[in-house]
Amino acid sequence: MDLQSLVTFFEEKWEGTPDVCVRAPGRVNLIGEHTDYNDGFVLPMAIDRAAWIALRRRPDRWVKVHFADTQRYGEFHLDAIRYTDSGSLEYVKGVAWALQEEGFFLRGWEGVIIGDVPVGAGLSSSAALEVACARAFCATAQIPWDPVKMALLSQKAENQWVGVQCGIMDQLISACGQEGQALLIDCRSLELTHVPIPDTARIVVLDTGTRRGLVDSAYNERRAACERTARQFGVKALRDITIEEFERRANELDEITRRRVRHVITENDRTLRAAQALQTGDLREFGRLMVKSHESLRDDYEVSSPALNAMVEIALQQPGCLGARMTGAGFGGCAVALVETAVAERFSQTVAEIYHQKTGNEPSVYICRASAGASLVESCCTA
Ligand code: GLA
Repeated sequence: MDLQSLVTFFEEKWEGTPDVCVRAPGRVNLIGEHTDYNDGFVLPMAIDRAAWIALRRRPDRWVKVHFADTQRYGEFHLDAIRYTDSGSLEYVKGVAWALQEEGFFLRGWEGVIIGDVPVGAGLSSSAALEVACARAFCATAQIPWDPVKMALLSQKAENQWVGVQCGIMDQLISACGQEGQALLIDCRSLELTHVPIPDTARIVVLDTGTRRGLVDSAYNERRAACERTARQFGVKALRDITIEEFERRANELDEITRRRVRHVITENDRTLRAAQALQTGDLREFGRLMVKSHESLRDDYEVSSPALNAMVEIALQQPGCLGARMTGAGFGGCAVALVETAVAERFSQTVAEIYHQKTGNEPSVYICRASAGASLVESCCTA
């Protein structure tokens, strides 16, 4: 995505130039999967693919938007926001609703939205859109930008307006990411620790080209099992159970629940160790923890898929691959690999070829740069 295409699209649809452009990135989670809604730890990074909005303030309270990807148009009035199941427009409405519920006074605007985060791939295109909308509403109504607060309100929009019970990871990293850094998030205290990614390795996103519709029900089921077990153990969330305590009391759980809970508890531990390994530049240890995470998601949490397993297996067989795992909610979408910089290009080509030969699916591979969280694009009106 480049700024010029955003501005050109605005000019085509609205004539004249935009007064504000904003962007908010998608993300890839390096480790810490299905831990955020258990008050645990996650280590995502914002990627160099984003949702972009170019807009012009309106004197009234109408919000009017053209979407580039679907070629659709939608509008709503800030004093009468209603859910009408209108696709991407519901994210814009949901964020406006959440900000107004919080007491912010918003202003109308007209604009265009473009994104290059692939939809449904597990790279959080919806969080990118929500956080970009929050950034846009703050810019037009002169609300100071508070990234953590705006991430929480974007999550509220996703939970209560769109109706998806996600945790806080995706919106927080989209709002708070920093260039060149991964972000360790304590999902209980919301304490954030930026951890630099050494230049000797690249993060490679491996999209299996598969998508699964089952994600929502499986996600909610697992979330419910975690919450039930926390109640049974008399704690607020699975975050509060140590590995030793889990081992002592594991026989109180049925076989499936035991595996689900074991994933969450061991994954929290792996995530903290991985963050430490990254901080000390121990990329081999980081890679080993990624592999363990994948095995746990595949065997205990059971959210992987044959395509994801094939992708991870192929990646791990290549020289210079330090680790690989499925990423995001699972059942399809993307894997992520940590690869030595010198071989990253070659790795990407080889993995894509072998994966295609073996599965017949069309993969996409991106070597990602860790990018900054949501921002105003200052140069937009002079582009
Ligand atoms: C989805 C959710 C996140 C998180 C992951 C699994 O991406 O939106 O909150 O729960 O799944 O780690």
